[in-house]
Amino acid sequence: MPFRQIPLRKRHLRRICAAVIAITMEQLPLPVAGQFEILASLEIAEMPDGCKAVFRKGSSQRVLPGDVMGFFDQYERFYMSSTVGAGAHRLNSRYEAIIARNAAVLKGKRVLDIASHDGRWAFAALKAGALHVTGVEARQELIDNALSNFAHYGIHDGFTFCQGDIFDHLRGQKCDFDVVMCLGFFYHTIRHAELLDLIERTGAKWVIIDTMVTHLSEERTVSADNPRIGRQNPYGIHLMLDPVDNPAMACSDSLARNGSTLVGIPSRAAIRFMAKHFGYTVEEFDWPAYFEKAPVARVKDMLDYDGRQRETFYLARVFHERQS
Ligand SMILES: C[S@@+](CC[C@H](N)C(=O)[O-])C[C@H]1O[C@@H](n2cnc3c(N)ncnc32)[C@H](O)[C@@H]1O
Repeated sequence: MPFRQIPLRKRHLRRICAAVIAITMEQLPLPVAGQFEILASLEIAEMPDGCKAVFRKGSSQRVLPGDVMGFFDQYERFYMSSTVGAGAHRLNSRYEAIIARNAAVLKGKRVLDIASHDGRWAFAALKAGALHVTGVEARQELIDNALSNFAHYGIHDGFTFCQGDIFDHLRGQKCDFDVVMCLGFFYHTIRHAELLDLIERTGAKWVIIDTMVTHLSEERTVSADNPRIGRQNPYGIHLMLDPVDNPAMACSDSLARNGSTLVGIPSRAAIRFMAKHFGYTVEEFDWPAYFEKAPVARVKDMLDYDGRQRETFYLARVFHERQS
């Protein structure tokens, strides 16, 4: 027997909020983003046995106790258009650090999304008020997914997706951007300094880098203010190989041999050092405070952030003095 779906109306939110709490669980799914926004994306359904359950709007996906609720619950195609880091916990938690924290910065701006994947962050930036987003992604099938996600949610302008290597793209044409999002990519290259150089040359005043980091800098006790430091240098990059046939990883480039290419995970200190060189100051998202506030987000697919192996950096441009 089909169940009856009761659409939520804004004026009922307060009552429904109480109902959601009462009906669903002792352990309410944590609304990490704006509570009312999230509630508007839910609906209560009466089940055949007369019990009530909470569903994501227009979906058969049930909200379960302990779910991290957030922005992507309104756009759940993004849970399915990629197999890479596409869980609700992870996308909604990262949304807080990448988009919510930068909403004022993104509004009305021209944004570059490096390694745009299935369009998840380009889409979220547009929804946050960005004027235009350019996504550059090496893999055409992921661009196709992005385009179909955008079409599904009725977004027809304000974006461009370009297939190709980000280095070729930035070198190949004049690119002007206000904000650059470099998310999940900085450890899929060994050309970190070159990338920061190209980013700076776009004119970007704000750069968001979400990346794995090594603990190398913490292992060094020296004062790191010497640009020529040799012994105990904390500005390290851990070398690794990425298999280039994996859509989560680096694409095939001129450094590839035997199906893999060279990449490196930078230390926190290395990121700060390089950012400073190219004229940026650096702040970090306070992931420990986030997990403190939202312990339910401390799940398996967030262990890298929780374990300080991955960070979200904000680079703000302070000066502009190029040699050439
Ligand atoms: C781990 S995923 C990150 C996806 C997304 N930016 C995020 O943070 O959720 C890495 C992405 O980088 C893309 N990629 C790898 N090498 C690239 C390159 N040289 N230029 C553009 N995209 C690249 C991959 O195809 C993949 O979509």
